[in-house]
Amino acid sequence: MKVNFTETVLRDANQSLIATRLPFEKFAPILETMDKAGYYSVECWGGATFDSCLRYLNEDPWERLRKIKEAMPHTKLQMLLRGQNLLGYKHSQDDDVRKFVQDSVGNGLVFVRIFDALNDLRNIEVAVDETKKRGAHASGALSYTTSPVHTLENYAKTAHQMEEMGVDSICVKDMAGVMSPQEAYDLVKALKESVKIPVVVHTHCTTGLAYMTILKSVEAGADVIDTATCCLSGGTAQPSTEVLAYALKQLGYEVTLDTKVLKEVNDFFKPIRDEYLADGLLEPKVLTTDADALTYQVPGGMLSNLIAQLKAQNALDKLDAVLAEVPAVRKDLGYPPLVTPISQMVGVQAATNVLLGERYKSVGKEVKAYFRGEYGKAPGEVNKDLEKKILGDEKPITCRFADTLEPIFDKTKAELGDKAKCDEDVLSYIAFPQIAEKFFEYRKEKEENKASYKIRKLED
Ligand code: CO
Repeated sequence: MKVNFTETVLRDANQSLIATRLPFEKFAPILETMDKAGYYSVECWGGATFDSCLRYLNEDPWERLRKIKEAMPHTKLQMLLRGQNLLGYKHSQDDDVRKFVQDSVGNGLVFVRIFDALNDLRNIEVAVDETKKRGAHASGALSYTTSPVHTLENYAKTAHQMEEMGVDSICVKDMAGVMSPQEAYDLVKALKESVKIPVVVHTHCTTGLAYMTILKSVEAGADVIDTATCCLSGGTAQPSTEVLAYALKQLGYEVTLDTKVLKEVNDFFKPIRDEYLADGLLEPKVLTTDADALTYQVPGGMLSNLIAQLKAQNALDKLDAVLAEVPAVRKDLGYPPLVTPISQMVGVQAATNVLLGERYKSVGKEVKAYFRGEYGKAPGEVNKDLEKKILGDEKPITCRFADTLEPIFDKTKAELGDKAKCDEDVLSYIAFPQIAEKFFEYRKEKEENKASYKIRKLED
């Protein structure tokens, strides 16, 4: 049996370990080599890359994508898309989602991995439909969590519905690294029995389970695994590409990666890893194993947010009470998976409930929107008394929230005028208005300086 590898060093490993601060110039020299490694796909875009390019790196994310494509013509490039949220925290208009997918594929993406925090398929259907229309590979991702309503039957049913929707593969997305080897084995088995398309497994090493979880997933029939080159693997990132290739080959699986090329890739990133370790951007702590998420059942990122929030309010002694309140809030909300943006919402509400000494005395704006149905359908039943308390006589919407949103692209394009040089600029602006505008100004200034420099050169 063949096991395929998706390399995540340019996206998830970069995001999980060094807050997506890797500029294009730093990894550009290795792309041609990576193109020869034999990866199933290379994840290079989406999640926080878009935000980080514009906000911190003064890079046009679209240009980055085109440059990667140019350097890696034989590799299938992949992005992670938050379904109807695209790359942000709020639901986008359907015309924006379609145009975004269209231009992502147009600029070089072949695989679009699409997920919804609540696994509400209405929130991925437009992105999936457009991906298929553009001739790209749509991967339907299941946000992984455990709860009384997240049964194997439910996951299998959702995966089957995704297959009927037209996705080309199913990905188990364990964003917190809490999926155990046994759970992975059972889930992948159940998925393989209910769908005909390939099954991909994505996890993180945060809790130390990942290598075992991946091995059991492969034993259960997983077709593709997500891994990162050795020196930027482990910790909060993915398990190592080289190590899993070595171990799986020995176990008799077919692995078609070029070991020599993999070593070149790893050797290239080593000094970069050391540089980030030296300047503190890569904290040694994130490279260690932390089983707290297994005890508390909250993702690592959410735990550090909670600690920061309580510290700021001088209430760190309430941490245990808040951690006990998180599952209670999650239950009231119908067991949503703790993934962006839901994890932040649940964390803040749990802390508020504890700090005010009365549950739901104050209710966050996002929690209200959640109960109104603006994020989609909760996986389980929400607490009806709480719903009544929050909404009063107002009824939650039952339609797709995006159906209530007016088209935005043409209007924004007209408003931006020549500030936007192309449609991709308009999409960047819709996603992150302030930082995109700042980036446009920076780019204009840079071009003007370059022009005046050229004139000076001619005069000389
Ligand atoms: Co991830």
